[in-house]
Amino acid sequence: MFKRLKSVLSPQSSAAVRIVILISSKGSNMRAILTKIREGKLNASCTLVLSDREAKGLEVAKAFGVKAELFPKRKEETREQFDTRLATRLKAEKPTLVVCAGYLKIITQPLLAAFPQRILNIHPSLLPAFPGLKAQKQALDYGVKYTGCTIHIVDSGVDTGKILAQAVVPVKKGDTEETLSRRILKAEHDTYWRAIANYLRSIKP
Ligand code: GRF
Repeated sequence: MFKRLKSVLSPQSSAAVRIVILISSKGSNMRAILTKIREGKLNASCTLVLSDREAKGLEVAKAFGVKAELFPKRKEETREQFDTRLATRLKAEKPTLVVCAGYLKIITQPLLAAFPQRILNIHPSLLPAFPGLKAQKQALDYGVKYTGCTIHIVDSGVDTGKILAQAVVPVKKGDTEETLSRRILKAEHDTYWRAIANYLRSIKP
């Protein structure tokens, strides 16, 4: 279904910086990041893409030659137990960064503690405005003229971590949730990989 693309594990697999990407659905941000790695613009290797649910993005990752795994929460597990198991799985990849790209689960203490200051997330609003779900609808309902996207470090709050980068997107007359989301997503694709590159430079892994 997806054309096999040149693997993003090579030739950058020798790069010191290893990242893992967490997704939950289509993974267009993940695709944008893998594309920049493949183009040599983001100097990192993605060793694993993991989804907590069946996701089209897993197939996209495989087409890039990246290991892609389904990692669902078990019914009997608490969120913390799930994140403990997830931390163990991710640690095996020895990643410098854990990149959340449309990952829908709230991240709890065991995972935060395993990767302090090393988990990034993207949110489709200019935080601290409109955190949480349906950020684009919140922006439309409020009537703001500009919204956008934010890349931040994940902390124990919901979309409250230190802001690393933002991009501003205008709200246009007649915008629907769908048209606005599409415009924001375009900005996300161009902003996330740059924010990752800048953050990697600042932490000098
Ligand atoms: C993006 O809008 C992102 O900001 C939000 O979820 C959406 C994910 O889209 N966290 P995709 O799966 O990367 O296409």
